[in-house]
Amino acid sequence: MIVLRNVKKVREIINKVKKRGDTVGFIPTMGALHEGHISLIKEAKKNTSFVVVSIFVNPTQFGPHEDYRKYPRNFKKDKEILKQEGVDLIFYPNVKAMYSKKFSTYVEEIELSKYLCGKRRPGHFKGVCTIVAKLFNIVLPDIAYFGQKDYQQAVIIKRMVKDLNFSLKIKVMPIVREKDGLALSSRNTYLTSHQRKEALSLYHALKLAYRMVKNKKQPPTIIKAMQKLIKKEAPSSKIDYINIVDPFTLQDVRKIEKRVLVALAIYIGKARLIDNMLIKR
Ligand code: PAJ
Repeated sequence: MIVLRNVKKVREIINKVKKRGDTVGFIPTMGALHEGHISLIKEAKKNTSFVVVSIFVNPTQFGPHEDYRKYPRNFKKDKEILKQEGVDLIFYPNVKAMYSKKFSTYVEEIELSKYLCGKRRPGHFKGVCTIVAKLFNIVLPDIAYFGQKDYQQAVIIKRMVKDLNFSLKIKVMPIVREKDGLALSSRNTYLTSHQRKEALSLYHALKLAYRMVKNKKQPPTIIKAMQKLIKKEAPSSKIDYINIVDPFTLQDVRKIEKRVLVALAIYIGKARLIDNMLIKR
């Protein structure tokens, strides 16, 4: 396994492996790796012959009062995991390598970014698109892997790839959950054991939504019931948003007729947790 911090060196290696006929699979991450990330790596190992993982806590996608400084970082442990998984190359740049002092070019998707997390975290997806575009240009993957855990991120990246004619395929993999249903997230490490219990309310609320969609209930009723469940199971939580949206446009659905995305963001203590579920009527 090769570990590189330098853009030029990554380009050299990628050039070489492409010349010898390898296909490049790529998983961009911010580290603090867990089974969710590993599921993407395993899929890449199945479909491509040279697997690259980037680890970079990207400052431009964090708001001024968000957890950039506090975000968990543990390169030594991450490296062990990636070695175990048979990853070929880790790209682990520092901030200077990605954002020079004179950096002044950003990539912004302006439609899908208006909703859900984009509404709550102005500039977030601009930071995500910018770093992912840069990473795609450096790693030149044939296939890049993203998790449904960040559903909006995945559809925005897909749109960016289409709009800007990137020559690669995006594959989106299902949400990996703990046995009790909590979606794996690097931010779960912020939770105390009491908050960990409260955090389960996100999954319980989604399961409730699932039953209600199947029972032909409509968004206002479903959202009210989800709010009530969360207040009961997690009294100290703060609901950032709960929305029932069209999975393609991310706009609110008034009347459920086909497949919908139920998406939510909830503060449990200082941790802002997100989760979602695609539900077919
Ligand atoms: P990060 O939060 O580290 O996530 C990296 C990838 O792992 C994303 O595609 C995310 O959706 C996926 N992932 C996280 N938790 C998952 C879970 N429980 N099940 C399945 N997949 C999961 O997302 C980012 O980093 C950044 O925004 C990034 C794309 C790297 C740009 O900085």
